[in-house]
Amino acid sequence: MSSTSSNIWPGVIRRYSEHLPITDATPVITLHEGNTPLVPAPGFVEAIGGKFSLYLKCEGLNPTCSFKDRGMTLAVSKAKERGAEIVICASTGNTSASAAAYAARAKMRCIVLLPHGKIALGKLAQALMYGATTVAIEGNFDQALQIVRELGETGKVEVVNSINPVRIEGQKTAAFEICDALGDAPDFHFLPVGNAGNITAYWRGYREYQAAGKSDTLPRMCGWQAAGAAPIVDGHPIASPNTVATAIRIGNPASWQGAREAADQSEGFIDKVTDEEILHAYKLLARTEGIFVEPACAAPLAGLIKAVQRDQIPEGSLIAATMTGHGLKDPDTAIGSAGFHPHVVPAERDAVLKVLGL
Ligand code: F0G
Repeated sequence: MSSTSSNIWPGVIRRYSEHLPITDATPVITLHEGNTPLVPAPGFVEAIGGKFSLYLKCEGLNPTCSFKDRGMTLAVSKAKERGAEIVICASTGNTSASAAAYAARAKMRCIVLLPHGKIALGKLAQALMYGATTVAIEGNFDQALQIVRELGETGKVEVVNSINPVRIEGQKTAAFEICDALGDAPDFHFLPVGNAGNITAYWRGYREYQAAGKSDTLPRMCGWQAAGAAPIVDGHPIASPNTVATAIRIGNPASWQGAREAADQSEGFIDKVTDEEILHAYKLLARTEGIFVEPACAAPLAGLIKAVQRDQIPEGSLIAATMTGHGLKDPDTAIGSAGFHPHVVPAERDAVLKVLGL
């Protein structure tokens, strides 16, 4: 079967090539990322007393189970095009998993700098399995990123963090997919904010699609940080950020300005929620919709609960929210949060019926 007659989803570079900085000379390194489902979540909306439609962009269904794959396919393809042999990133976990996978696919070496002890287990397992060289930094993500910037200046390695502008270019394709699925942009877009690349990318994507005549409206961009790691909301960098949502445990976001512009230009906002609120929304989503996301994704959901309480969402609105990573990335937080207290019983029918009260 020729590639043109194939029905295989081609990945975001080939699907949206006219919107991306590539040429015929760019080798396309793809795991056929993108095309993730946009899932209605009426059960969650009902549970929080909302009167609007909520659609969840389930980015945990990408090849390495987070949204990072959209930017990484482009970053690694462009690195390969330039003849780079080594890619490097700092990461709270997902970027490292994605970089490691695409580097393996491109036959390149991958080096990842991780904040020691603060990486969810699933993400670490991914980086190790894909064969990345992992360096654990006795410090946080912001410090690891500073070191990566300095290593990038040596010219020996290609940085694939979102300070590399092509990462943002790839990530904007999620906004295209949402417009393609809904027929236009939503009224609001809710998402978690850490290093702030993704909110920057979505806003660019929505604007470019409108400018290209492929959508008519623009959403209000509503970003959510964790209260212990909310530099943009608090208005200054946080030296020691802390939150259960380790993916967004970031005190000095690289795309701070992009995030501010997205919120201000779209008449949206950036706000914060506590870890307690995050864990409540995390469990509520799983139990009302059967959708299991990692804790960072619950920040915008907790934010939605807050927005309903504050009466910020007009009745009948259409809201999209990005669920950035899969719940299985962080089994420790899931088990700790849901509680695991098994009823241990003899292997007998009656014992099981009795413990169940049936
Ligand atoms: N959600 C998840 C699951 C993430 O992994 C990240 C960022 C974010 C949200 C925030 O996105 O940084 O574009 O504002 N993770 C990065 C990493 C920092 O290293 O994996 P952002």
